[in-house]
Amino acid sequence: MRRLAPVTLVTAAALVLAGCGSGDSGAELSVGDAYMPQPVSDSMAAGFLTITNDGDAKDELTSVTSDVGDVTTHETVDSSMREVKDIEVPAHGQLVFTSGGSHLMFEKLKRKPKQGEKVTVKLHFAESGTVTVEMPVKSATYTPKTGH
Ligand code: CU
Repeated sequence: MRRLAPVTLVTAAALVLAGCGSGDSGAELSVGDAYMPQPVSDSMAAGFLTITNDGDAKDELTSVTSDVGDVTTHETVDSSMREVKDIEVPAHGQLVFTSGGSHLMFEKLKRKPKQGEKVTVKLHFAESGTVTVEMPVKSATYTPKTGH
């Protein structure tokens, strides 16, 4: 039994460290690069953003809501879109919604967002709760500068 003692100590220390984060979950989320290209359609729009998790635990984006309309999360597969749910934000990783890839899909728009406005989007996470993002509306052809 004595040989097991060091292992037990290490496990206990790890648990203490995991409990030191700012949230209860251990996921530490931040949102960046959010924007919506000014929609060309009266009823539909797309939104893009990057969710970064600096924490030691994964989280999950379970739903998205906005006051401008219905929001779903889509991924693009072979140039067609399909809805995805409960998307993982890996520990020390990112969930990226980018033009040509996954995106937020706004439908049944109550109003048509215009360039220069901001759209309020609420991201609902399994562990971290709700994160509110002010998403600026850019020109219809806007593409962000990448870090490459
Ligand atoms: Cu879509």
